[in-house]
Amino acid sequence: MKLHRSLCLVALMFLVIITSSITSVEGRKHHHHKHKKDKKKNNSDNCTVPGSSPASPPTIPGHASYPTGSKTFDVLSFGAKGNGVSDDSKAFLTAWKAACKISGATVEIPSGFKFLIKPITLQGPCMPNLVLQINGALLAPPKVGSWPKSSLFQWINFKWIHNFTIQGSGVVDGQGSQWWTPSNQIYLIQALRFYSSFNVTVRDIKIINSPQCHLKFDSSGGIQVDNITISSPETSPNTDGIHLQNTRDVEIQHSNIGCGDDCVSIQTGCSNVHIHHINCGPGHGISLGGLGKDKSVACVSNIVVEKVSVFNTLAGVRIKTWQGGMGSVKNVSFSNIQVSDVKVPIIIDQYYCDKDICKNQTMAVAISGVKYDQIVGTYTSRPVHLACSNGIPCTDVDLTDIQLKPSFKYRGLDEAMCWNSYGKSQGPLYPSSIDSCVRRDGGSVKRIARSREHVCF
Ligand SMILES: *[C@@H]1O[C@H](CO)[C@@H](O)[C@H](O)[C@H]1NC(C)=O
Ligand SMILES: *[C@@H]1O[C@H](CO)[C@@H](O)[C@H](O)[C@H]1NC(C)=O
Ligand SMILES: *[C@@H]1O[C@H](CO)[C@@H](O)[C@H](O)[C@H]1NC(C)=O
Ligand SMILES: *[C@@H]1O[C@H](CO)[C@@H](O)[C@H](O)[C@H]1NC(C)=O
Ligand SMILES: *[C@@H]1O[C@H](CO)[C@@H](O)[C@H](O)[C@H]1NC(C)=O
Ligand SMILES: *[C@@H]1O[C@H](CO)[C@@H](O)[C@H](O)[C@H]1NC(C)=O
Ligand SMILES: *[C@@H]1O[C@H](CO)[C@@H](O)[C@H](O)[C@H]1NC(C)=O
Repeated sequence: MKLHRSLCLVALMFLVIITSSITSVEGRKHHHHKHKKDKKKNNSDNCTVPGSSPASPPTIPGHASYPTGSKTFDVLSFGAKGNGVSDDSKAFLTAWKAACKISGATVEIPSGFKFLIKPITLQGPCMPNLVLQINGALLAPPKVGSWPKSSLFQWINFKWIHNFTIQGSGVVDGQGSQWWTPSNQIYLIQALRFYSSFNVTVRDIKIINSPQCHLKFDSSGGIQVDNITISSPETSPNTDGIHLQNTRDVEIQHSNIGCGDDCVSIQTGCSNVHIHHINCGPGHGISLGGLGKDKSVACVSNIVVEKVSVFNTLAGVRIKTWQGGMGSVKNVSFSNIQVSDVKVPIIIDQYYCDKDICKNQTMAVAISGVKYDQIVGTYTSRPVHLACSNGIPCTDVDLTDIQLKPSFKYRGLDEAMCWNSYGKSQGPLYPSSIDSCVRRDGGSVKRIARSREHVCF
């Protein structure tokens, strides 16, 4: 054992010399720091690389004896090159599979390196409390042609994962600029996508330049998003920041989101979503919908958006539904929203349409119980636009303390545009046209169409 240890030490020193000469200053700092930490941890008293089971690929020279603790699975130890050019997907996947088997393990993407990753699925179930520590950079293939035709839906797909955390000071770079050209916009590629995953935390990282949506949660629950940055140019079309679908119990907080489309998009099947302390812009603001497309059923409830700053966007807080849909949006609260240079800060649009003219239909997703409180700041086109369905009016829409002034870029109208919405309003309301926006006889509203909102529970 003693001999073994001293051999280890020699190997370790050798490694330090090698890495010193080949890695950046940043990377070096990180590795030295790591050695200390792992000695203290004392959870691996030999030089075995964790996960280097027969199934693992041979590790590269110089990293063969990378002295990680037995619960840290550094992708470099699994053959990743980290040069931003070689395909490191296999190494990432192998490190993932090894870590997945151990409770409380960490897959590490070390700082100072760039890992080119092709579309992959990181699948559970895994042992609890797995962490993906992203300190370096993950890069998507930049060329459209190098994406396999079969995986044009997401880049990194997390599936069936519980009690999982992504964290770190690193960056997830979708390198999506080629996807933003008109001919490539037909694909719906999400950079990070979670499917059927529960108790997931994403914190601290940056997600940039996704081909389309940056972070998507689908059929999931117990989601925490904290202190992340999402950024791609305003000119990137259809790039949502965070997209939620069929997902419950979500908290999104303390984050900066700016991209070409919605900062946060809440789709059908979502409830108990709490969004707060977010900076949003540029983009399209915070949106519920579009819901009820192609006569589909949409159910969204119990949404709280508060203490949010929205700037340089098309909308502030918006609910949009297609005509002819079914189901309901209910119990939504937007409060303490600071807007600046927002085209239309408050929108309900039940005539959402992707063509010049869409035929009016009687059916609609029913909207009720929407509170707006303390929506304050500047607009560039119109302060309020509430266009509720002809057949099914919006009910219990309450406007309290709305103070919107034209921005100096103002080219629009002072008038609030309101149609078929019922509820209460309470001052201060500025401009005063907002006061007549919601009609008070909501109790006796006649619904022309049966809304079929009972399809939602
Ligand atoms: C330290 O290593 C010894 C020997 O392998 C082991 O028995 C012990 O549990 C370790 N202690 C900690 C705190 O990991
Ligand atoms: C190295 O440590 C692992 C567990 O920490 C143990 O299973 C293995 O037998 C050890 N190998 C040697 C050569 O000591
Ligand atoms: C992890 O998930 C399991 C269910 O898969 C649950 O029973 C357990 O309480 C969770 N642990 C933590 C720490 O969240
Ligand atoms: C989520 O975590 C909580 C504890 O934080 C646990 O009680 C619950 O079982 C977990 N759910 C799943 C599906 O892992
Ligand atoms: C937020 O994330 C950054 C890294 O992106 C980190 O430096 C900072 O400490 C984090 N802030 C908090 C409050 O955790
Ligand atoms: C409305 O949503 C809030 C926040 O999710 C929730 O606390 C409240 O119970 C809901 N009210 C009803 C009537 O469901
Ligand atoms: C649909 O209804 C709205 C509200 O009544 C009206 O302004 C619009 O002109 C109608 N559109 C068509 C195509 O009939």
